[in-house]
Amino acid sequence: MEKFVINGPCSLNGEVNISGAKNAAVAVLPAALIVNGISRVENVPDIKDVRVLLDILSKLGAKITKEDDNTVICDTREVNCWKAPYELVKSMRASYYLLGALIARFGKAEVSLPGGCDFGFRPIDQHIKGFEAMGATVEIEHGIVKIDASELKGAQIYLDVVSVGATINLMLAAVKAKGQTIIENSAKEPHVVDVANFLNAMGANIRGAGTDVIKIKGVDHLKGGGTHSIIPDMIEAGTFMIAAAATKGDVVVKNIIPKHMESLTAKLIEMGVTVIEDEDFIRVISGKKVKNVNIMTLPYPGFPTDLQPQVTVLLNMAEGVSTITEGVWDSRFQYADELKRMGAKIKVEGRIAVIDGANVLSGAPVKATDLRAGAAMVMAGLVAKGRTEVTNIKYIDRGYENFVQKLNALGADITRVSTDD
Ligand code: EPZ
Repeated sequence: MEKFVINGPCSLNGEVNISGAKNAAVAVLPAALIVNGISRVENVPDIKDVRVLLDILSKLGAKITKEDDNTVICDTREVNCWKAPYELVKSMRASYYLLGALIARFGKAEVSLPGGCDFGFRPIDQHIKGFEAMGATVEIEHGIVKIDASELKGAQIYLDVVSVGATINLMLAAVKAKGQTIIENSAKEPHVVDVANFLNAMGANIRGAGTDVIKIKGVDHLKGGGTHSIIPDMIEAGTFMIAAAATKGDVVVKNIIPKHMESLTAKLIEMGVTVIEDEDFIRVISGKKVKNVNIMTLPYPGFPTDLQPQVTVLLNMAEGVSTITEGVWDSRFQYADELKRMGAKIKVEGRIAVIDGANVLSGAPVKATDLRAGAAMVMAGLVAKGRTEVTNIKYIDRGYENFVQKLNALGADITRVSTDD
């Protein structure tokens, strides 16, 4: 096992290049299974979730080669298996995209129920509701989702809840279905648009991605030969923007799409942070003081739930009391107890956290309770006085490429050490 050892406090200054979006890559790579040919995907983040996914695609018969750390060539002409390997699948949440991709290609699929972060129950009932609307039969036996969809036909599907996963999974399943599928109340996240752009580049007919109504006209096949570049990771970008503000730093966050960051940019400005944006970068200069604010996380374009733990660290430094309402997940405040060990004053009641600010954090041994909470604990270590040890960093390695290198290049003092030491 490994842990991060962080000596704080520090101030982050300089430039950081943002990697490709994890939540786009883990959907685009399974989508390549629907293409009977060669797909070239650039700006793929070299993170654990992607490495596991590429391993799964290989086990299904795909020929995976890497031109460099971030460019993947996926040849799916020999893909011959619709049963995803249980041991690999259960280690990542986004494995559910294999369902939509495999039934689009084979008309059947067997994939174990998703694993991933543990913050509240993570159902896939909306995915299943949509597959059944398209004519599939879905059974769950011994933790494995088994789908028979020999004749997928277009359907009108209204999602009961705005779900990124269900939106993308149903888009995948509908690409070659007979007729038109309409997904209403669909998620509008940038990674939904990115997957639609990849599929359309391969010959699909998807309109409306990025709005709450997506129309997919089924086509006979998807041709290979296309190249797609994964969009920048808005959550990694937001993590560094918040860290710059929290450490009283001045950081230029590069290779991003500023429009994707609008809800965070607006909130940082409200908190007294200076934010300068240009075509493909945002510069964050911390303010003298952090003003207390109220935040509610919502589906895009609302404030991202995946930045909720990180911004809590910043709110801990604000003058006065702030609140965060978690509008997406049932319970995403497990990390609060870890932050309290460092001196944070947070009271959690269900989906609302009340943060009593103007606290100086002190270093302590803490653990990552999920991917984004892990990033927040690292950020707390940067801000805290003294030594912080963060364990369970396997979560962080799932979603942040070269996290330690990028932070140390900005002036942090973090080392990855084996816990046997
Ligand atoms: C994606 O998860 C992201 N993961 C999550 O990011 C992110 O928090 C989430 O979207 C919201 O933006 C990936 O893209 C791999 P949802 P997903 O379906 O698709 C309920 C990270 O840190 N729901 O949009 O699983 C669900 O319980 C991860 O990168 C149902 O009720 O999320 C939740 O309350 C963490 N039934 C809400 O909808 C369903 O069938 C949103 O879930 C599906 C979802």
